[in-house]
Amino acid sequence: MQCAWSACALVLTIAVAACTGSTIPTAQAPTGQQTAPAPGGSVRTFELTAAPTRIELQPGLTASVWAFNGTVPGPLIRVRQGDLIVVHLRNRLPVGTTIHWHGLAVPNGEDGVAGVTQDPVPSGRSATYAFVARTAGTYWYHSHQRGAEQVDRGLYGLLVIDPGRAAPDSQADRFLVYDEWPLGLEMPSPPADGGAAMSAYVTVSVNGKSGPAIEPINVIPGSKVRLRMLNAGYLVHFVRLDGVTVRVVAFDGHEVSGGRLTSDALPLGPGERMDVEFTAPQRGFWISLQEGFPPSAGAAVEVEADGRARAQGPPADGDIRPVLDIFAYGARAADSPWPQGAVATRAFTLTLTEVARGPGSTAASMPGMEMGDVLYEINGKAFPATDILEVSATDRVAITFINRGRMDHSMHLHGHAFQLLERDRNAVPGVIVKDTVVVRPGVSVTVGFVADNPGWWMVHCHELHHSAGGMMALLHYTGAPRLSSLGGPYQAVPD
Ligand code: C2O
Ligand code: CU
Repeated sequence: MQCAWSACALVLTIAVAACTGSTIPTAQAPTGQQTAPAPGGSVRTFELTAAPTRIELQPGLTASVWAFNGTVPGPLIRVRQGDLIVVHLRNRLPVGTTIHWHGLAVPNGEDGVAGVTQDPVPSGRSATYAFVARTAGTYWYHSHQRGAEQVDRGLYGLLVIDPGRAAPDSQADRFLVYDEWPLGLEMPSPPADGGAAMSAYVTVSVNGKSGPAIEPINVIPGSKVRLRMLNAGYLVHFVRLDGVTVRVVAFDGHEVSGGRLTSDALPLGPGERMDVEFTAPQRGFWISLQEGFPPSAGAAVEVEADGRARAQGPPADGDIRPVLDIFAYGARAADSPWPQGAVATRAFTLTLTEVARGPGSTAASMPGMEMGDVLYEINGKAFPATDILEVSATDRVAITFINRGRMDHSMHLHGHAFQLLERDRNAVPGVIVKDTVVVRPGVSVTVGFVADNPGWWMVHCHELHHSAGGMMALLHYTGAPRLSSLGGPYQAVPD
């Protein structure tokens, strides 16, 4: 319904513009300030066409999706550090769209946030993004126009940047991309709110397949394997590997050293990535999700040890492992964005709450936002009424998220990586650098970074139903121009 409504509104806008003789301004495109790779890098060009299509999650279960190049996840974008990434987006969707590069500190004009850094690319039109791949690691890309709908429908993919000039040891890499899909996949649009409709999600997919259709992973016994995991969905998942111990080697793309071996279940919140390494055993095993909702038994991945020894079945329900506490993991990233012992020059506290909307509530945020019965608020306000976090270049910025609600909130900052500084006022050991952090109910988390990338940047929950329901704010560098505004002729909705 929302899509139909948007399309009508757009047609109406055009008609009105035509009658009055005025014209709609050309859609603000990505600004493309970076045109050359770093010294030694190359120009890598990719074509991404966003279009409706159908995918088969497993035999008998097909879904009507919106996808990049016809697959969910979209194609893997893999480059080397220093390369210039050039992406031509063609929009064959019935509505406007954008691409955001989650976790990458790109120039503001390439960030792909509708209504903040660009206008949605209209249906039938194209746009080009270009930016230098500065930091190695596991990242991802996804729509940032009406993301609660568009990412949910399938508009996302992985982006991996290999370090330096060394050849990537891609033989050793395996990928696990988790997502959830609604029951009744033929629905014209996914459920719009965080309430009862959520229970409509019943299928977890791994790399775009569910249940028996999930591709096994093949490994050579004795070899080192790097598993790059992404949660593209809206729920926290707990990934367990039965039969090996693993070492975490990267959080949200940021390489760490000195991490201990663990057999704990690995928490992966919406938008988060984690890379782990293990030595492939002689015998096959299973990678599965525990404590899952929706029921995640169907999301188990079989690891075949060179195809020889078959694994026993995945763990039984109720066989639950402790969950790795990443705040206590103690590994060290080399690329700390927080000088040791630094004192913040700007400190913000963002208190996160969920508030039932009373009948007749006027607390609606903006037309087109997917508002359910619950508002997801920051300091008592829903976007776009949330306070702007105003900073200046070179500020040392600390943000404390306090979760006073009952749900997990996976808080993500655009344009920067941050270091985990404190949990519940206790210093976080080691150096853990991330761009997304799950703040559990009752918990406070402080992150820090140096302001070094001017612009207008989103801070929001990556449970996109929550961001669409208000849990978004903007971080602004004093003096930085705003490249696009909310609503307007292109119906920009930035969740
Ligand atoms: Cu994954 Cu605001 O982004
Ligand atoms: Cu949330």
